[in-house]
Amino acid sequence: MVDNKQKPPSRLWRRPSSRWALGIPLGAVLAFALGAVALGTTNYVVHATSSTEFCYSCHSHESFIKPEYEASSHFANVSGVRAGCADCHLPHDNWFELMWTKAVVSLDAIPELAGKLDTAEKYEAHRAEMAQDVWRQFKDNDSKFCRSCHSIDAMQLEDQHRTAARRHAKAEENGETCIDCHYGIVHKEPDNASELYDAVAAEYAGTDD
Ligand code: HEC
Ligand code: HEC
Ligand code: HEC
Ligand code: HEC
Repeated sequence: MVDNKQKPPSRLWRRPSSRWALGIPLGAVLAFALGAVALGTTNYVVHATSSTEFCYSCHSHESFIKPEYEASSHFANVSGVRAGCADCHLPHDNWFELMWTKAVVSLDAIPELAGKLDTAEKYEAHRAEMAQDVWRQFKDNDSKFCRSCHSIDAMQLEDQHRTAARRHAKAEENGETCIDCHYGIVHKEPDNASELYDAVAAEYAGTDD
């Protein structure tokens, strides 16, 4: 039989000799520093790729996206609050969803290189289908990007135009979401926008939204 009593204590867990003892806290400090650098770089990359400048690196198009956005009330307004591209197009409340969206956006490098949207004509040819994609996204998430700045609760309905106040007061109970009434607020509407929007809304009719 094996006689355990005679076995020397495990080498693995022997008290480190004084020369190596210093290595343990030093190693911990090094690991911490490396971790911080890695995290810092990730945060840097995440922030850099959420800036309007980053989106402009592909979507700057002086003749369409940029002038439409810069003429909109979300670029400049009385209150001086600006909504950047990322405020309306990237999730901020869920890290995993943000990373997923970024991974999907990075795939757009492929059609970009293929020149899918590089002229106004090409952009117009795709605008309707892209706008419908974005509308579906807003229907799916109950316009949550709009709600990160606006909320019906915070509206002074009595100071709004009567129609607006009436429609906002009833929106929740009627199951209506911001995008149902406020599309085309930053970008030019695609041709036949209301028919295209109705087609998207019809996909949702009957579902309990
Ligand atoms: C590498 C170039 C590139 C960058 C950077 C880029 N985009 Fe795009 N984006 C494209 C291309 C190309 C398309 C068209 C993709 C397609 O329909 O296949 C597109 C499509 C879109 C669409 C329509 C999506 C859809 O579902 O049809 C939105 C919205 C959008 N981009 C927003 C953004 C925002 C916001 C940013 C910045 C965070 C951004 N893009 C950064 C190239 C880019
Ligand atoms: C980053 C914050 C922010 C986000 C995100 C945002 N808004 Fe706004 N919105 C504002 C500000 C600020 C104003 C101007 C307020 C003022 O000074 O009157 C405004 C104005 C408006 C107006 C009135 C002016 C107009 O152009 O008709 C509407 C309608 C509106 N927003 C709807 C939306 C909808 C719909 C979304 C989502 C697609 C959205 N907003 C996303 C901040 C935001
Ligand atoms: C049932 C339709 C409807 C829905 C849903 C709706 N709105 Fe409106 N909203 C209107 C109408 C109509 C106006 C007045 C005309 C306009 O500015 O477009 C208005 C005006 C506004 C204004 C300008 C108010 C002012 O007096 O300056 C803001 C901001 C706004 N809506 C934001 C939102 C947001 C954010 C949501 C989602 C939480 C939303 N609305 C949902 C119909 C709606
Ligand atoms: C206030 C919210 C808001 C801001 C800010 C915003 N968008 Fe959009 N975006 C939308 C909505 C809503 C749609 C869906 C189509 C529509 O209703 O105009 C859309 C549609 C798009 C599309 C699809 C094609 C189209 O023209 O409809 C692209 C591409 C796009 N956005 C890119 C951008 C880029 C790039 C920026 C910054 C320069 C930006 N958006 C800023 C709300 C916004």
